[in-house]
Amino acid sequence: MKNKIRLGILGGGGDSLIGIVHRIASSMHDSYEIIGGVFNPDFSENIKFAKEIGLNEDRIYQDYEEMIEAELKLDESQRMEVVSILTPNFLHYPMAKKLLENNFSVICEKPMTTTFEEAQNLEQIYKSKNLTFAVTYTYTGYPMIRQMKEMINDGVIGEVQRVDLQYYQGWINPIIHDSVKRSKTWRLQPDKSGISCCIGDIGTHAFDMLEYVTGMEVQELLSDLNYVYDDNPMDVDGTILIRFSDKIKGVIRASQIATGEENCFTVAIYGRKGGLKWQQENPNYLNHLSEEEPLKVLKPGHDYNSDFSKISTKLPPGHPEGMFDSMANIYNGVAREIRGEKEFTGEYPTLNDGLRGMLFIEKAVESHNNGNTWVKLNRD
Ligand SMILES: NC(=O)c1ccc[n+]([C@@H]2O[C@H](COP(=O)([O-])OP(=O)(O)OC[C@H]3O[C@@H](n4cnc5c(N)ncnc54)[C@H](O)[C@@H]3O)[C@@H](O)[C@H]2O)c1
Repeated sequence: MKNKIRLGILGGGGDSLIGIVHRIASSMHDSYEIIGGVFNPDFSENIKFAKEIGLNEDRIYQDYEEMIEAELKLDESQRMEVVSILTPNFLHYPMAKKLLENNFSVICEKPMTTTFEEAQNLEQIYKSKNLTFAVTYTYTGYPMIRQMKEMINDGVIGEVQRVDLQYYQGWINPIIHDSVKRSKTWRLQPDKSGISCCIGDIGTHAFDMLEYVTGMEVQELLSDLNYVYDDNPMDVDGTILIRFSDKIKGVIRASQIATGEENCFTVAIYGRKGGLKWQQENPNYLNHLSEEEPLKVLKPGHDYNSDFSKISTKLPPGHPEGMFDSMANIYNGVAREIRGEKEFTGEYPTLNDGLRGMLFIEKAVESHNNGNTWVKLNRD
């Protein structure tokens, strides 16, 4: 039997949205054991929640600094190996920095940091270590997204000539139109969230997905954001024109005020020979469009899929797998990397993906603030 990877968790308590996704996902491939962590800044809540999920109190800490100090005192055979960071955005950087400096591998929620500068600092530390760092752009774990990536890479749709990614939600409507609720939501507070709400939260998923499936890097963008109220410092909607080159262009549309939309994330990539289209709310179908043939609908688990897509599904065809499974594939990618078993490009989103995500957010805000001008996505 393989030893389980000892996992610590920061954030993701019982009051959180994403905590349960990580806990379930980490268990799905039988590769991790949750050892402890800090689930909540309030210690009594933290202990209460740890008990609820059956963890021993010994390894539940006051804060991440105490956790790192205490874990370092343990024998390496007992110490946490990987720590997942699931807190509000502003805590990602100080936590990830200290973890890397002390030789823990990291699984970090997106956006990776609150500024591009912080992301660059993490990159520097990471490069001086031999550790694994994943950023949970969850949707890259879906088997039909991985299939899309491999089909584009294999030239099935020919040279990419048009891209269109839409990520529409409506959840912020009841908050944005209420000034009291608006001031209490961490996602609308720059000191907790970073410089962008909508683009930082969901636009960044679309950007990462675009570069993930095409294997290409966006060169320039022009963005038009909407803050809705003059006293609201954070965008809640945006349209971003993107250019890979003078001849390969497209658009990322993201909104949290698309009334009635739930998690409507659509990825469409059009090449000279065909198109590929996928929707997050219906993730087990990949549409292959062509001018010459009728629509083909590809589904997970079949032999016609790539090996990478096939290792990303656990059940025979016809058994729907969803977001928990997608996150589990990312956890599995990290486990395979740690065990020297990783085979495919893209088994988990990397620190570089997180860094480019931060570059995208900063440049999108810069373009908007400049009066909607084209800006280059370079690192200077
Ligand atoms: N990958 C995805 O699809 C996805 C989806 C949702 C959220 N997220 C990301 O996950 C992160 C958390 O989002 P959420 O919606 O779960 O937030 P949330 O507000 O629902 O939960 C945050 C959790 O962090 C805990 N926390 C706060 N301060 C802490 C501290 N100092 N130490 C330890 N724990 C602390 C809170 O108690 C809570 O349990 C964000 O960065 C968000 O962008 C990603």
